[in-house]
Amino acid sequence: MRVAVLASGHGSNLQSLLDAFSGTSAPATIALVISNRAESGALARAAARGVATATIAEDGQDAARLLDLLAEHAIELVVLAGYLKKVPEAVVRAYRGRMLNVHPALLPSFGGPGMYGRRVHEAVLASGARITGVTVHLVDEQYDHGPIVAQWPVPVRPEDTAELLAARVLAAEHKLLPAVVAAFARRGRAPVCSLSADALGPMAALPRSLDDALAVA
Ligand code: GRF
Repeated sequence: MRVAVLASGHGSNLQSLLDAFSGTSAPATIALVISNRAESGALARAAARGVATATIAEDGQDAARLLDLLAEHAIELVVLAGYLKKVPEAVVRAYRGRMLNVHPALLPSFGGPGMYGRRVHEAVLASGARITGVTVHLVDEQYDHGPIVAQWPVPVRPEDTAELLAARVLAAEHKLLPAVVAAFARRGRAPVCSLSADALGPMAALPRSLDDALAVA
């Protein structure tokens, strides 16, 4: 499956995709990287791997150019990985059900306009939530809103700062996003992922006593 990645910044999620799909037998190929910032780390990472790159206007609203680029590279799946602009509605329509976004919180909480980067983690800490995590969802016409495809929980620790929490959530993003893209590529459609009993381990069946499960501070 031919994949295009849209990214605005550092590009560590892009790197996890490039690393996951570098082999010839990989179910997906990162065929194009598009950024609304010519100086973004994401474009440099793509160039370093010999992947085609393109830049679009900073506001990201040039729908015709985006559609031309995606058609030119025969793109089947679009992934937003640290892409900070709203995708034009014409592009969302053209890729309905074939455009994924990764968000560093458990949507529908802590999402929406302006909720990106450290602000998300600051809001999680300010709310007192004891669990946060990662969400991969299908993109629709609203920020951080479309059908949820997969989530992974990340416990919040008493000593957490926004930086510490962001780093642990980002590590989970780097695992979840390639896994969802691989599942999508194998099925040719968006999978619906729920945490398996193996993944949940002792959490799968609520133990008689939670004494061991809760680190009480
Ligand atoms: C990630 O936390 C992503 O969820 C969010 O922006 C951050 C981008 O990180 N949308 P990177 O550019 O992939 O390193």
